[in-house]
Order: sequence, then structure tokens, then C-alpha cells
Amino acid sequence: MAPREIDTGLEGLRLWPAALSPDEQAALRDAVLAAVETAPFYRPTTRAGRPFSVEMTSLGPLGWVSDRGGYRYQPTHPVTRAPWPPMPERLLELWRDLTGWPEPPDACLVNLFRDGARMGLHQDLDEADRAAPVLSVSLGDTAVFRFGAAEGGPTRSVRLTSGDVCALTGPARLARHGIDRILAGSSGLIEGGGRLNLTLRKARD
Ligand code: SIN
Ligand code: MN
Repeated sequence: MAPREIDTGLEGLRLWPAALSPDEQAALRDAVLAAVETAPFYRPTTRAGRPFSVEMTSLGPLGWVSDRGGYRYQPTHPVTRAPWPPMPERLLELWRDLTGWPEPPDACLVNLFRDGARMGLHQDLDEADRAAPVLSVSLGDTAVFRFGAAEGGPTRSVRLTSGDVCALTGPARLARHGIDRILAGSSGLIEGGGRLNLTLRKARD
């Protein structure tokens, strides 16, 4: 059955609550954690050298990185220097089923939000292909997701719970978005607590 989509009030910001069943969430968590065994979570820094509160790694041909050289996509893990592991098939299937985009994503950023981690309001601007959607899967603790139109103006927030999938598409591809906070203890899916966010993008044209 196709997941139910709800209206977010921002055209192009698509949200499918509970797109993944509890069993599917556990299977995806296991697949992602197995895949990142050789690509451990690390804490990137801003250009100014300030550490992010979110830990990150990536899957697929390209991974998003940030350091004193700025934001970019690269084919290797910045600590191990090895190529990123492949994306689990289930993620590629979700991308096909929900976005209908004719080409597969080439990058999956894996964000780990432990208690207290947050992500400031930003736009996804580092992709060469900005027509392709951005698809984001939430696993584990609930997040308060803030969003607003690309052009500015007021923002709103919505809670993203484990198994929810959302997408930035069309007029909302460049929407401002971020994570205000994580509701610690709201899910038992992630050992040690927290939230895993999987963001699929097409970084190259
Ligand atoms: C991101 O913008 O990279 C992550 C958004 C999220 O965690 O839901
Ligand atoms: Mn983003």
C-alpha cells in the first residue's frame, strides 16, 4: 500500500507520516548501522573550526562533508579516507516509490542526533542538481523540524517521528529547514538513544 501523504502547508514540502512500519524501521536501522561499520560516525566542523552537535557519515558514491575547506561532496570518508559504503537497497526503493525521480540519488547523508544535538535553519545548496528532490527518513527519537519558504518569511515546526519520510521538492527544494531539538527517550529504536536521519540527494548532475 502506498504511504499516506499529508499537507504541510508549504507547496513542495511533502510528508509521509509512518511511511515505514516498526519492522521496516528496525530493518533499515540494522542495514544502515551495518553499512556504516566501515565508515564510522565522526563530528564535522564548520569552516571556522566549530564542531557540529550532530555526528555524521555517508553512504553511496558521494558524501557531504564540512571542514575548514567548507561544505562539499566527496567520494571518500574524511577520517578513514576509504570510499563510502553503498546505500541499502531499501533506501533506493523508497526514493523511487516516493519521489518518482527518474535517476537514483548519489549521496545519503547519515546524521546521528544524540540528546542535545540540533541543526540550525539552512538550505541544501551544495548539490549540482538542484532540480532533483531531497528525501529524508527519520528513525528513532522524535525531532522538532522547523521549515519555511526559500524566500524567507515565517517558519513553522512539525514533529518528525520514527518512520516518517519527508521530501523537499519543486518549489520547496530550497526551503529553509533545521532541527530545533530532539525529544530524548521518545523512541527505543536507536541503542543509546537519539535519532538517525538519512538524507538522500542527487549531488551531481
Ligand atoms: C538535514 O537537513 O541534513 C537533516 C534534516 C533532518 O535531520 O531531518
Ligand atoms: Mn538540510
